[in-house]
Amino acid sequence: MILAMRKAGKEYITDGSRVAALRDVSLEAAAGEMIAVVGRSGCGKSTLLHLAGAMDFPTSGTVAIDGEITSDLADAALTRLRREKVGFVFQSFQLLNTLSVVENVELPLLLAGMSRTRDMAVERLSWVEMDPYASRMPWQLSGGQQQRVAIARALVASPPLLLADEPTGNLDNATGDTILALLRRIANERGAAVLMATHNQEAAAIADRIVLLRDGAVAGID
Ligand SMILES: Nc1ncnc2c1ncn2[C@@H]1O[C@H](COP(=O)(O)OP(=O)(O)OP(=O)(O)O)[C@@H](O)[C@H]1O
Ligand SMILES: [Mg+2]
Repeated sequence: MILAMRKAGKEYITDGSRVAALRDVSLEAAAGEMIAVVGRSGCGKSTLLHLAGAMDFPTSGTVAIDGEITSDLADAALTRLRREKVGFVFQSFQLLNTLSVVENVELPLLLAGMSRTRDMAVERLSWVEMDPYASRMPWQLSGGQQQRVAIARALVASPPLLLADEPTGNLDNATGDTILALLRRIANERGAAVLMATHNQEAAAIADRIVLLRDGAVAGID
């Protein structure tokens, strides 16, 4: 199992009062599977994704990525886990505007100290059909094209787990649908487990499972 959440909970304490952002969420994702997390604003979708990506830790229960329990790991092991096992895609793309398209995709590899990274970056761009745009700047691209570059960047280290927080939230419906189809293809062809928070109606048709959150708890799995 790529991702295994067992009764994962997350409580925040603000101004002395407790907020349960996530309650006893149990969820598994296998290779090649695409799971959509849905629910109204504030139900805990982003919190769930942050726990699933070891960007944050549960205050109860456990989260395991490829068999490793995130809250058991020391800093160096966590850095390696995030770098090798998890790709993250954001609603707002978050490309660096001072770097070209291919440099954006290459950056995670350079930060990891790898050499001869250009070929890998160009190959990932070809996965999302953006290799002809390798030398453009991000601000010279449409929103949908920027998101495809961001997906290539998330996939550059071939992580088994791809997390996406409302990846179509800043795009028009038609463009959003092509991004969902692309994520579906990444799951099918590259074997990644894809977990995404979304409000897109197409998600229901395209995902293997829909997890409905209500007040931080799983209210239904379809
Ligand atoms: N750092 C934090 N400190 C305190 N409370 C937080 C924090 N982050 C999130 N919360 C609370 O946790 C709950 C879940 O938030 P979360 O961001 O996961 O919701 P969401 O489903 O992603 O919402 P949206 O659809 O608006 O993005 C909310 O009640 C929110 O106010
Ligand atoms: Mg959110």
